[in-house]
This record gives sequence, C-alpha cells and structure tokens, in this order.
Amino acid sequence: MSRNRERVIEAVESCFSENEKTSPEDMLFSYKGILYPTAFSSPETLEALKSLEIRSDDVILAGYPKTGTNWLEEMVRELESADAKYTEEEMKERINAEKEQQMFPRLEFGDPGIYERMKKLPSRRIISTHLHPHLLPFSILQGKAKVLVLLRNPKDTAVSYYHFYNNMPVLPSFASWDEYFAAFMNGKLAWGSYFDQLVEWNQYIDHEKIMMISYEELKENPILGMKKIAAFFEFSLDEEDFHRIAKKTSFQAMKEKSKETHGKFGDILFRKGIVGSWRDLFSKAQNEEMDRKFEDSIGRTKLAAKIKYNVYCKA
Ligand code: A3P
Repeated sequence: MSRNRERVIEAVESCFSENEKTSPEDMLFSYKGILYPTAFSSPETLEALKSLEIRSDDVILAGYPKTGTNWLEEMVRELESADAKYTEEEMKERINAEKEQQMFPRLEFGDPGIYERMKKLPSRRIISTHLHPHLLPFSILQGKAKVLVLLRNPKDTAVSYYHFYNNMPVLPSFASWDEYFAAFMNGKLAWGSYFDQLVEWNQYIDHEKIMMISYEELKENPILGMKKIAAFFEFSLDEEDFHRIAKKTSFQAMKEKSKETHGKFGDILFRKGIVGSWRDLFSKAQNEEMDRKFEDSIGRTKLAAKIKYNVYCKA
C-alpha cells in the first residue's frame, strides 16, 4: 500500500459513519465567506494553518475540487519516489511517519494540532490542497516552495463535483442538477467559487515557483505532462520510469485498485475519468450562462488560455 493510503481510507470511512448522524445544514461551515465540510475541517484548523512552517523542498499541489487532485497526487508521489529511490525500509518509515502523525489527505483537513505534527514528517513532504491562494501560508506564495496548480475546464469540473456532492454522505445532496448548477455558478459549494479561485491563481501565472497544468493535457499526453512536472520539481527519472508511472496511474489501473487504495471512497472518486462528460447534463441555457461567466471572470487571462475553453467547452 502506498504512502498515506491507509490513513486516507481510515479518515474517509470514519467520516462516512460519523456523518450519518449530521443534518444537512450542519455539514458545512463558513470560514471567511467560504464553505468547507465540517466532517474534515474546522475554523480553528484553518486559523492554525497560518502557523505551518513551509520547507523549501515541500511539493505543493493545489487546485479546485474535482480537477483530478487524487490522480495528480498519485503521479507526483510516484515521480518523487522514483527520483528519491527510497529503499523499501525508507518507504516503510515514511508511511509510518504519516500514520504516526495522523496525517490527512488535504492540507486543510484534520485538527488544529496537525501543523505542529507536520514538522515531524521527513522531507520531501507532498502537500495537497483545494484552498484559495489567499488562505495558504504566505511563505508559499512568496516562493518558499514550489506549487503545481491543477486546472480543469469548468464544465467537466462542475459535473464531476455534482456527482461527488450527491454521493458523498458528508456533503448535503442537491435535489436536481439545475439546483446544483446555480450553486456552482454562485460559488455556494464547499471551497467556494471555481471562478474566484482561478481569478486568484491567475495573478501567479508568471511566478517562477508556480506552475499550472491541466487535467486535459495530462489526459491527452500523460508522459509529456509528467515530464513537465518532473522538470519543474527537478526530479530526475529514466524514460522507462515515465512509462511505468503512466501505466500505473491510468484511470483504469487506479480504478481497478481503488478498493485497496481508497476503500469505499474509491467508487465515488473514480467515476468516468474522461474529458467532455458535461455534455450529458448541460442545457443550452446553462451552456450559454457558463460561457458568459467564464468570459466575464477569466476569459481574457493567460490562465484561461491554458484551460482551452474553446476546445473543451464549446457546445
Ligand atoms: P470525473 O468525476 O469526471 O470522472 P479529484 O481527485 O480532484 O476529486 O477529481 C476527481 C476526478 O478525477 C473524477 O472525474 C475522476 O474520475 C478523475 N480521475 C481520478 N483518477 C483519474 C485518472 N487516473 N485518470 C483520469 N481521471 C481521473
């Protein structure tokens, strides 16, 4: 079992059972105007996050929910391990350290004491988050560590999040796609507005320690995508490593192993894994509304060019 996995399964499964008792209105809390799942985080934890000491070799992965975070994280863990050439013993020690420190799969999850415990993790730490940049410790954005930001076109992200919301017992369900669509457009979902988050990330698009990569480019050419990631983090791998990791992290391969790697959560997470599934749900009016919103919020930015809206989102 790979690093951090047992903890992921444990954390998610305990939330499944605990949340059977939570009423929908208590499933989310608001912190500085943005919603978060009560089962995984708290205002105290988000406050305590300011105290996190970033290391220059931390590997930070960021992105809005449902942009493919679990996939990217798996790729990056594999790339990092191949570069570090950990022995089996070292690998075990790393897994144990994450277990002992009771780590969670996202930076913003857990109890407020988690940031103190993170000091005990060996380098290189791989840290994933869905938070808006302004909520991250300031030293990250000042360039103390490298950040890889994952982007995904808004229509597929919205559809993926819709199914996730309705299947995750820790999030309040929506009665219909139309009701959910309005919430997505208004940022009334956990982790807030997709659009606001991108407007913020766009300010960092030329930052030398921040790189953006899209779900769609990783789908189109995973090996090329991984080579860009490896170059950014200065990981050195053989050609065959890239091919091995591409095979191991394909949607099919990850889905097949998901019971073991993600427990019950696997069935919810590994849904379709394709580009363009938004076409099943968007009405003509919703397409037009999304096109307008994208254009008005980030349409003319460099980050929008990276998302290739006209290629992936035009009806
Ligand atoms: P869909 O719901 O469109 O299928 P996140 O990890 O940020 O929660 O994102 C989940 C999305 O990434 C889901 O999209 C999921 O199927 C997709 N995904 C997970 N693993 C993948 C992989 N190995 N290859 C491609 N897509 C993957």
